[in-house]
Amino acid sequence: MSEQEQGSYRILGNVDDFPSFPATVTIDRDPFFLVQTNDNDDPAYRLVSAICPHAGGLVRPHENELICPLHFWAFDILTGESTNVPGEHLECRPVEIRDGQFAVLEK
Ligand code: FES
Repeated sequence: MSEQEQGSYRILGNVDDFPSFPATVTIDRDPFFLVQTNDNDDPAYRLVSAICPHAGGLVRPHENELICPLHFWAFDILTGESTNVPGEHLECRPVEIRDGQFAVLEK
């Protein structure tokens, strides 16, 4: 998806450009997943890093988790918290909808 900067927010793209979740997003060449955390009646969104905190593997969606294929650490797809290695997590940031676009605060 295209990206552009707008103030202190990074625009991820138009809401209409994301018909399903998780959706892949790239920011400064780093891969993320845009996930919907609530149901369609009250949706909320997060950006979850696709880079495993163990040794940098790329996690992949599998059912309700993101799984790293290198050593099989697993993470909750909605929160980024590891489900099999206590205390570990993927970077996770809240996403807002601003003027019909998904936007995430810059770090
Ligand atoms: S790099 Fe992901 S589990 Fe080791």
